[in-house]
Amino acid sequence: MSSKVKRTYASRQDRPKFRSSSPISTLSSSPASSVGTKRPFDEFQSPRAAKRVKVSSAKPKQKTLTQLHFCIDQTIIRTCSLCNLSYTKGAEDDEVLHRTHCARVQRGMEWGKEEERDKHSAGVKEIADRVRLKNGKKGRIICINATVGGKIGSKLSTLLETIDVTLSASALSPEALRASTVYLFLLPAVTPNREKIAGCIVAQRIEKAMAVAPSSENLSEPKDTPALVAVDDSSGLFCYPKLLPTALGISRIFVTSAQRRQGIASKLLSAAANTFIHGCVLDPKDGQIAFSQTTGDGISLMRSWGQGGVRIYDEDNC
Ligand SMILES: CC(C)(COP(=O)(O)OP(=O)(O)OC[C@H]1O[C@@H](n2cnc3c(N)ncnc32)[C@H](O)[C@@H]1OP(=O)(O)O)[C@@H](O)C(=O)NCCC(=O)NCCS
Ligand SMILES: [Zn+2]
Repeated sequence: MSSKVKRTYASRQDRPKFRSSSPISTLSSSPASSVGTKRPFDEFQSPRAAKRVKVSSAKPKQKTLTQLHFCIDQTIIRTCSLCNLSYTKGAEDDEVLHRTHCARVQRGMEWGKEEERDKHSAGVKEIADRVRLKNGKKGRIICINATVGGKIGSKLSTLLETIDVTLSASALSPEALRASTVYLFLLPAVTPNREKIAGCIVAQRIEKAMAVAPSSENLSEPKDTPALVAVDDSSGLFCYPKLLPTALGISRIFVTSAQRRQGIASKLLSAAANTFIHGCVLDPKDGQIAFSQTTGDGISLMRSWGQGGVRIYDEDNC
């Protein structure tokens, strides 16, 4: 169930164009520029070639030469169909990074004993218990301040980094994180007393967002509508340009690929709508909630969960 990711706001050039293990901070040591380009030949030489040459007075013996072949039609960059990550095949570091990322995308990171031990000091709140999914499995929803530190903080950072790679998104700014709460859906793992983070949303306080126009076939009189803003090149999602007061922004949504279409994202969104502002239940149908990322799957979710009322906001300008 892989999604074809489209970036938010066509004008945002800062986003990486190509999902890769390479350009994202700690996920790789390779420079971003190596993506999609062949490395210079001398980078492939073994370290032994760099050793100093000993000068010998003996007559040099003729060495048998081996013909080298360049395989110019085979790229060494591979894109995984399961996690969509591009990595350099044969480069051990890249392959390890890919395997780790791929496992996180498919099955999720662990929420274990150490996280449970630190949950009170980290201010983790349980929002709902025994939340039933379509396949009958039951999980729970917790929420945490996005700027939490310690063991839970570093787990969240890794999780958000994995999500950013999946969405080809830049990391959220420190200001955005300060205004954000992370909601996690935890499912029991195979190992007893352990859980997996099966879903995550990042919810942030925002001020304004744009209402989404009905899809073109629903517009009876297109000439009567004000100029619409295209959210990106290919999603077919258009907004009315007027910025409207909106309370809650969803900057990241992610569900592990093994658990999709079970209702996890919808349950997380409802949990955020019900609890983000203390004592005030937000209604997506009334335009009180907006998304900042718009992948194909995300748009389907947005339409299904918000029934056309979810708005769009720019997370760099909210
Ligand atoms: C988008 C995503 C978060 C959805 O999570 P999910 O837990 O599978 O969503 P839900 O099960 O709550 O889906 C609720 C409804 O949304 C719609 N929907 C969700 N994913 C869909 C998809 N891939 N294709 C079509 N409709 C979809 C359906 O109407 C679905 O109801 P149904 O399963 O009864 O038909 C998940 O696919 C994901 O993590 N994708 C990769 C990251 C991403 O694209 N994030 C979105 C950024 S906007
Ligand atoms: Zn993969």
